[in-house]
Amino acid sequence: MPLFSFSSFVSHGYLLRMKGFALRSAGVVLALAAGAATLPAHALNATEQVASYAAQSGQTPQPTRGQEFFTSKHGHEWSCSSCHTAKPTVDGKHASTGKAIRPMAPAANPERFADAAKTEKWFRRNCNDVVGRECSASEKADVIAWLLTLKP
Ligand code: HEC
Repeated sequence: MPLFSFSSFVSHGYLLRMKGFALRSAGVVLALAAGAATLPAHALNATEQVASYAAQSGQTPQPTRGQEFFTSKHGHEWSCSSCHTAKPTVDGKHASTGKAIRPMAPAANPERFADAAKTEKWFRRNCNDVVGRECSASEKADVIAWLLTLKP
């Protein structure tokens, strides 16, 4: 029974969580995996981060909702686009310091979403600045899923 011994050997919780997520959103997972196959190795981490945030939230990532979230001012001064532009395959510019920011879309900048700790740190800071609170796991999954659809 090779399958059985494999699954009891590998971390069970992780597999079960991934299975639940895959069942709920098989279409998205397949689409993202197909996209990742043609992208540089780092972009795979963006895909993994979508999967991880989606598993946390228990919701299917929605790229169009991510775009809406990214380009809206949430009752405050800035949107995410104020610094990252509304089509983040190009360089952004910090809305107050004017400093250049490299593109957010993994297809234009393979270094994006390669480090989960860095991603979390900036989500926390930027969501607080723009939305006035931390972003939910579902909002983070939506945003990265949308960024993954963008081609330079
Ligand atoms: C005031 C300017 C500014 C705004 C507004 C802003 N960001 Fe950023 N963001 C930055 C800077 C600066 C960095 C760090 C430099 C870099 O990674 O290029 C960054 C980095 C990030 C990263 C790290 C990406 C990675 O490689 O892991 C994420 C995620 C992010 N921003 C998401 C958002 C989201 C979502 C919003 C809207 C809620 C937003 N940002 C709004 C300036 C901004």
